[in-house]
Amino acid sequence: MGADGAVRTGIDAAIGVFDSGFGGLTVMRSLVEQLPNEDFIYLGDTARAPYGPRSIAEVRKFALQGLDHLMDRGVKALVIACNSASSAALRDARERYPVPVIEVVLPAATHALAVTRNRRVGVLCTASTANSRSYDDAFAVATEVALTTQVCPRFVEFVEEGITGGPELLAVAEEYLASVKRAQSDTLILGCTHYPLLSGVISYVLGPGVNLVSSAETCAQSAYSTLTKAGLLRYEPREAVREFLTTGDAHDFRGIGRRLLGGLITDVTTVALA
Ligand code: DGL
Repeated sequence: MGADGAVRTGIDAAIGVFDSGFGGLTVMRSLVEQLPNEDFIYLGDTARAPYGPRSIAEVRKFALQGLDHLMDRGVKALVIACNSASSAALRDARERYPVPVIEVVLPAATHALAVTRNRRVGVLCTASTANSRSYDDAFAVATEVALTTQVCPRFVEFVEEGITGGPELLAVAEEYLASVKRAQSDTLILGCTHYPLLSGVISYVLGPGVNLVSSAETCAQSAYSTLTKAGLLRYEPREAVREFLTTGDAHDFRGIGRRLLGGLITDVTTVALA
């Protein structure tokens, strides 16, 4: 919506960004860096997070409710800033909405394919993303690549609590990353948008020889190219507006969000989805 309360469409409209909670803020950070003149409306479904342990059908339903809400606000494009939601709802979203829908899985897989030297790639993700086999599908064309998928449920819990270090997290990271070490993957996709906030501990455990591919950064690159091709990129320098919506407690969202990502988050409003 514009300052006058009218719903905007076309190039001047905002971009809607959706995630189950705080993880999509890592995508927001990359989006703001790469598309500084765009207005954004971020919606985190924190009241129903985590999505990872949920069934694919339930994640799809919740994600479409969130995306419907953003569409109702008149956005010009949607970014599904969540691997679990991208895996469950991308096809439906692209059929349902008359705006470009950008997601996280394919851009990350494409980048990993371009940078791996030994053709051994690891993917850290939620159970929901692993069950959808979205990364297996994304790598189906590259039959010579050995893919190691590791589900990391506790990582999301740590991030949602604002914890990014300490002995307990380190022990959990050692356990989760053992399979990636065994497989000798030289490239690791952080296939959940919460995980870039844990790249410190992940690279501490794996050492400098492993490329970490953040689905946040590659998603922002994909947004840039999609908007440019569609003639929807705002490139005139301007002061952009960023709104934050949550289905949970606005005060908590602002507190944890600011702890994780600093001053990017200002006002937060609670909304209901149905
Ligand atoms: N950030 C989400 C993702 O990329 C999932 C976190 C959750 O389990 O809600 O998959």
